[in-house]
Amino acid sequence: MSDFAALQQELRRLAAERDVVILAHNYQRPEVQDAADHTGDSLELSRIAAADPHSVILFCGVHFMAETAYILSPQKTVLMPDKRAGCPMADMVTVAGLRKLKAEHPDAVVVSYVNTSAEIKAETDVCCTSANAVQIVERFPRDQKIIFVPDRNLGDYVARQTGREDTMILWQGWCHVHDDFRAAEIEELRAANPDSVLMAHPESRREVLEIADVVTSTSGMLRYPETSDARTFIVATETGLLYKLGKLYPDRTFIPASKQAVCPNMKRTTLEKAVATLSDEWDDVLEHEVVVPEPIRVKALAAVERMLA
Ligand code: 13P
Ligand code: SF4
Repeated sequence: MSDFAALQQELRRLAAERDVVILAHNYQRPEVQDAADHTGDSLELSRIAAADPHSVILFCGVHFMAETAYILSPQKTVLMPDKRAGCPMADMVTVAGLRKLKAEHPDAVVVSYVNTSAEIKAETDVCCTSANAVQIVERFPRDQKIIFVPDRNLGDYVARQTGREDTMILWQGWCHVHDDFRAAEIEELRAANPDSVLMAHPESRREVLEIADVVTSTSGMLRYPETSDARTFIVATETGLLYKLGKLYPDRTFIPASKQAVCPNMKRTTLEKAVATLSDEWDDVLEHEVVVPEPIRVKALAAVERMLA
């Protein structure tokens, strides 16, 4: 038995014993994804976290995702194998900065990407994910001013898709993994693979989205090949997604838009840490617990629930 198989077995045993559901984002390490009860994009995982009956959630992802699970289900214990797994883009927007922008635009509503802290969600009218950002913005009247935080690339994409470039005010944050893709490099890959289809995550720059055949969330990319006759796909997102793509479509070829597209925070979670979090020897589980102060949670919940509705 491989080391991974033994650890996965131990993790599954502990999870069953302690009434734990294991959720893993699509960027997690393959061996972590394989041990999870559910994998998915940010939207799917928040829906699962809200509906799942287990009393404990072990969240294999980054901090804002575990926080969102707690916001939705405060009666549950939400644990992370490594709480240092944050999202640098989420940290690019501060409460003071957002309040200042709101004061400058008192007639604007705030739409926040879920890649934000609970404190920012508490200052937000409605959250969105990469899977539903266009739909959420479209719910507002065409002339409604919208402050969009924190991702300038997703914000720019949504503004163009909805024809609201004049009414959306974009926070200038970015995801270092997606913002690093370059159209010129991708064009070289395309030239070498002439019949390939380019799938790009909307956290990528405009120059990349403009040449993409499909722009969608991570789970959108997992579904897309099913509807396409193409044999080769260039994938402009974190390389963790290629594992599941390869598993789902073993007869297709998936090429990373850049081999450097790795999110170190997503990779902080390992099987060893997941086992240690749930193991009997682990004497201080609080070290892994993610909680949000109640007054902030209640305000943040309103923004998350509006999204899910
Ligand atoms: P999605 O899985 O929701 O597309 O999110 C991408 C991401 O960067 C999460 O950190
Ligand atoms: Fe944040 Fe980008 Fe990493 Fe996702 S991939 S957690 S957006 S830094």
